[in-house]
Amino acid sequence: MLVRASVLTYLLVNPLWNNIHNWGESGRTSNCRELGSREEIARFLRKGGLPLRFGINKKFLTPFNHNPIVAGIFMKKEQKYASFSLMKPILPKGLPRNDHILISGTPGSGKSILSLQFIYEGAQLGEKGIYVTLDSKREYILEQASQFGMDFGKLISEGKAEVLHLDPTDIYAFLDDLKNKASEMGAERIVLDSLSVLSVYCASYRNLPEDLMDFLQSTKYVPPIIDSSSMKKQMLYQVLSTLRELNCTTLLISELPKESNWFSRDTVSEFSSDGIILLEYHILGATGASRSLSVVKMRRSKYAEGVHEFTITDKGIKILQ
Ligand SMILES: Nc1ncnc2c1ncn2[C@@H]1O[C@H](COP(=O)(O)OP(=O)(O)OP(=O)(O)O)[C@@H](O)[C@H]1O
Ligand SMILES: [Mg+2]
Repeated sequence: MLVRASVLTYLLVNPLWNNIHNWGESGRTSNCRELGSREEIARFLRKGGLPLRFGINKKFLTPFNHNPIVAGIFMKKEQKYASFSLMKPILPKGLPRNDHILISGTPGSGKSILSLQFIYEGAQLGEKGIYVTLDSKREYILEQASQFGMDFGKLISEGKAEVLHLDPTDIYAFLDDLKNKASEMGAERIVLDSLSVLSVYCASYRNLPEDLMDFLQSTKYVPPIIDSSSMKKQMLYQVLSTLRELNCTTLLISELPKESNWFSRDTVSEFSSDGIILLEYHILGATGASRSLSVVKMRRSKYAEGVHEFTITDKGIKILQ
C-alpha cells in the first residue's frame, strides 16, 4: 500500500506526467502516458526507484500521433503468495507474501537446504533474495547450494540473489547492514540463518540501548535490576519488528535441541512469527533414518496438516507423497 502510494506520488509530481493522454485500466496495465523514447522511460522508472513489480508493458509501446510513444506502465496485481515449489504438496499457493516464517528443527534436519531452495526459486522468478548466514562461511553456503545444482554464482552476478555473512555481535550494525543491502537490491525474500545465533547476542550488554550503557559505564558494577532474560526478549522483539519493516517474505531459521517443548530457543519468535515449519530427523535402527516436515501454524493459510516425510535428493529437499 505504502509503495503504491509513494509510486503514485512520484508519478504525479513528475513533470513528465504533464502530458498524460490517457489513464487506462486494461488487464495488468494501470496507467498510460506519453513519453519520448524507451531510454527516457527506462530512466524515468529507475529514477522513481520503482520496484520490480513495475515495468514497461511492451504491448503499450505503440506509436502515438507523430513521434512520441505511449507507454503503459503496468503494475502486476499484488501477488498474495510467494511461490515455493518444494512446499506445494502442503501449501499449494506458496508462503503468504511478506510473512515471517520460523523454520525450526534439530541439527542436520535440513533447515538451511530448504531455505536455500526458497531464495534460489525466488531469484529465478525475478524475486530478489538475500541469504544471511551468521555462523557459516559464505563459501560453505555456496558450496552446499551447488551440490544441489543451485548456481548462486550466476544469480549473484546478475544481482538477483546474495549470500551475506554478517557479524551478529553488534545487533544495530547487523540490522543496518541488512536494511541497506535489502533496499539497495530491492530484495523481496530474506533468510536469516539463524535467529538462534542472533538471539544469543541480544543478551549481550554491548547491545543495550546507548543511554543505559552510559549509565552502566558510569557505575562501578552491573546493577542486579537488569534481568537479562527479559532484556533479551525485548531486544529480540525489536529485532523482529525491524525485520518486518523490510517488507520481505522472510524465513527465520531456529535451531532446536533434540527434545524441546518449544519451537525456538528464545521462546519468543514462535509467537511473533506468522508461521512455523518444523523439520525433524529420526534415526531408525542401526542404518536408517527418516526426515519429516510439518506446518505447525500458517496464519491466513490453508495447509495439509500432519507429518510429511521428505528426502534429500541431488536437487534438494523433496516431499514424499
Ligand atoms: N549433497 C548432499 N546430498 C544429500 N544429502 C546431503 C547433502 N549435503 C547435505 N546433506 C544432508 O543434509 C544435512 C544437512 O542439512 P542442513 O544443513 O540443511 O541442516 P540444518 O538443519 O541447517 O543443520 P544445522 O542445524 O547444523 O545448521 C546433512 O546432515 C546431510 O544429511
Ligand atoms: Mg543450517
